[in-house]
Amino acid sequence: MPALLIVNAKALVGVYPAGTTRVPGRRMHQLPLMENAWLLAVDGRITAFGAMDTLPPADSLPPHTRIDASGRYVLPGWCDPHTHTVFAAPREEEFVDKIKGLSYQDIAARGGGILNSARKLRAMDEDALYHQARTRLEEMMRQGTVAVEIKSGYGLTAESELKMLRVARRLKADLPLQVRTTLLAAHALPPEFAHDRQAYIDLICHTLIPQVAAEGLADFVDVFCETNYFTVAELEQVLEAGARHGLPGKVHVNQFTSLGAIAASVRHQALSVDHLEVMEEADLAALEGSSTIPTLLPSCSFFLRIPYAPARALMDRDLPVALATDHNPGSTPSGNMNLVLSLACIELRMLPEEAINAMTLNSAAAMGLAEELGSITVGKRASLLITKPVPSLAYLPYAFGSDHIHSVIIDGRPVHTGH
Ligand code: NIG
Ligand code: FE
Repeated sequence: MPALLIVNAKALVGVYPAGTTRVPGRRMHQLPLMENAWLLAVDGRITAFGAMDTLPPADSLPPHTRIDASGRYVLPGWCDPHTHTVFAAPREEEFVDKIKGLSYQDIAARGGGILNSARKLRAMDEDALYHQARTRLEEMMRQGTVAVEIKSGYGLTAESELKMLRVARRLKADLPLQVRTTLLAAHALPPEFAHDRQAYIDLICHTLIPQVAAEGLADFVDVFCETNYFTVAELEQVLEAGARHGLPGKVHVNQFTSLGAIAASVRHQALSVDHLEVMEEADLAALEGSSTIPTLLPSCSFFLRIPYAPARALMDRDLPVALATDHNPGSTPSGNMNLVLSLACIELRMLPEEAINAMTLNSAAAMGLAEELGSITVGKRASLLITKPVPSLAYLPYAFGSDHIHSVIIDGRPVHTGH
């Protein structure tokens, strides 16, 4: 593969020194830039960059492809640390029911929601699931996503949860973007266990977690800790079993109710706590000073018309807020991180710089990839996006709904070039 040389960038964005693994909340408004710059990638890694007046003569560089980025920004590609992108079918009929007045909870109570997705996923073979998810991930890559976390959670039997994780592993092998996977067997109680909750938790802790750890099928464990789903005590059992097998927690908490799950997740050193639409003072206090990353999902709030997470309160406590799509058929049928950027600014009232830090370095950290991705740093993967000519960085979230991405590069190789 020839090297890649980008010249005349309006700015390289997110230029952090090696070893910077997250941006604490009170510093997120700072986004280090290098204006009028070049960048060299060799063998898929960033090997050098600098201001244009330091560009080495072309004949001193390895054979390379040259991209002129005049008027364009070069950013670290988006990292999306929370998705459910492997699923069997969309649920637009529930969307119409919501327009008519039903809530997410009403739909679940009628056997819709997660159990609706589980029935369809159990009946679908691995190949069909793979091809659908692949199409979704290809669209997400065109939209600038270079790393994604994918959860199971629509199987809800040992066999079907493993099927989902095998599909995700195949996607990881076949697609250029980085993929991390999470066992979310505790997403909803399957009807088969309606009268014996503990038997399902035991199946997760004593059978599934050891097996996915042994086969390298998952990097993390997750639990939907929520009224009518799983309790804090059950969350703790799963986090403990995950820890015994080297799988840290990335958990769904405080979406509709505050149950004390954040304090429990922090005690178990969860890597991230995700959603956080409903936060009490005790939840904020539990997170403060911890290493657990609050991950916010504003397109889920948008789609379900539920409250937005208190991003400012989290940043004021110096927490490294991350952003993700939550791409799934029920609460967020969109894997577009550019929409997340606009919603973060419009609804979470994050500054453009804060939001970009949250969807690059902090979101890489929220899936354990901050040493590889999330900033323009020598040694990291050259997984970048180049914007169309835009007047400023703030223009990216401001002109919402337009496509501002000119090209997407993963590991030094262009995967998409627009117009
Ligand atoms: O993150 N909250 C739980 N899980 C998903 C929604 C799953 C579904 O409705 O299919 C979420 O919003
Ligand atoms: Fe989710």
